Amino acid sequence: ETNENIHQYPLDIKVLNPDETAEVFKYFSESLQDGFVRIGPKGYFFTTGINEVAPSIYNMELKPDDTWVISFPKSGTTWMQELVWLVANDFDYATAEAVPLVARFNFIEGSMFSSKKSLRYYSDETREQLAALFKPPDHIAKLPRFIKSHLPLSLLPPTLLDTCKVVHIARDPRDIAVSYYHHDKRLKLMGYTGDLKQYWNMLIKNLVLFSPLFDNVKESWEKRNHPNMLFLFYEDALKDLPSTVKRVAKFLGKTVTEEQMSRLCDHLAFDNFKKNKSVNMEIFKKLNLSCKDVSPFIRKGEIKSLIFNIF
Ligand code: A3P
Repeated sequence: ETNENIHQYPLDIKVLNPDETAEVFKYFSESLQDGFVRIGPKGYFFTTGINEVAPSIYNMELKPDDTWVISFPKSGTTWMQELVWLVANDFDYATAEAVPLVARFNFIEGSMFSSKKSLRYYSDETREQLAALFKPPDHIAKLPRFIKSHLPLSLLPPTLLDTCKVVHIARDPRDIAVSYYHHDKRLKLMGYTGDLKQYWNMLIKNLVLFSPLFDNVKESWEKRNHPNMLFLFYEDALKDLPSTVKRVAKFLGKTVTEEQMSRLCDHLAFDNFKKNKSVNMEIFKKLNLSCKDVSPFIRKGEIKSLIFNIF
């Protein structure tokens, strides 16, 4: 079936050119030895693990009651996923606490990280655990589906917006850069060894996963008036969470009482979120995917725009 999908994939998957490959290997760990690709006319950047996953996502069967949260990485995705899930599921805190967010909300291209190719660096056991965590598109059993993706719209199924509700969360690229830098230092899979300024340079050269950032965001921005697209900013949510909750609820056709609002905002407040084992990605540590002595996934949650400190 995968082969069939590959035949039906209209976008070019090109191996990264040698100069760029050498540059990435300067800063990222050996775990990525199997190399990189760029997809489509905008040259979206991935590890080769995406090669089989991308066509199966592009051609996946959509269901009208799928709910998607999409973003460039580090834009507050996890936070929005929990918000969306709780509003959509009528504030079922019992399930939200019992079942980790990664199991309630499928990371649709996550299986690119457990492909045999891109994970030579890990033991088979870790790879299998990762594979169980991030299932490929055709293996999501639970309905209705909640799906997270960092892919731009052009790499998602062409009928996505005509079929499903999609929330895009965007954030100031300068804060994304800082957050992504810590993220790529944190994860063994990435094993970033450079400094922040070098990271910024990699980001603007589109040599970090899922870049180019601006194209990724722009593709959703262009669809912001589509009735099935809700385009949100991390900064708005941080400054006024209840307004963001109201927008999400309206979008999903739900109502929120004052009492429900107050409990939800408390649940989503940074300090509580950070302690919440269902969402805080401690699982990376458990699976031995994190390096030692690194910042936690729910790190600072601030608007800093540190650009002036980088240079
Ligand atoms: P920082 O690293 O700047 O702190 P993603 O989920 O897309 O990977 O985004 C992660 C970023 O969202 C991190 O940013 C994280 O701290 C922030 N974040 C997560 N939960 C949050 C919350 N409840 N409130 C504010 N920011 C949050």
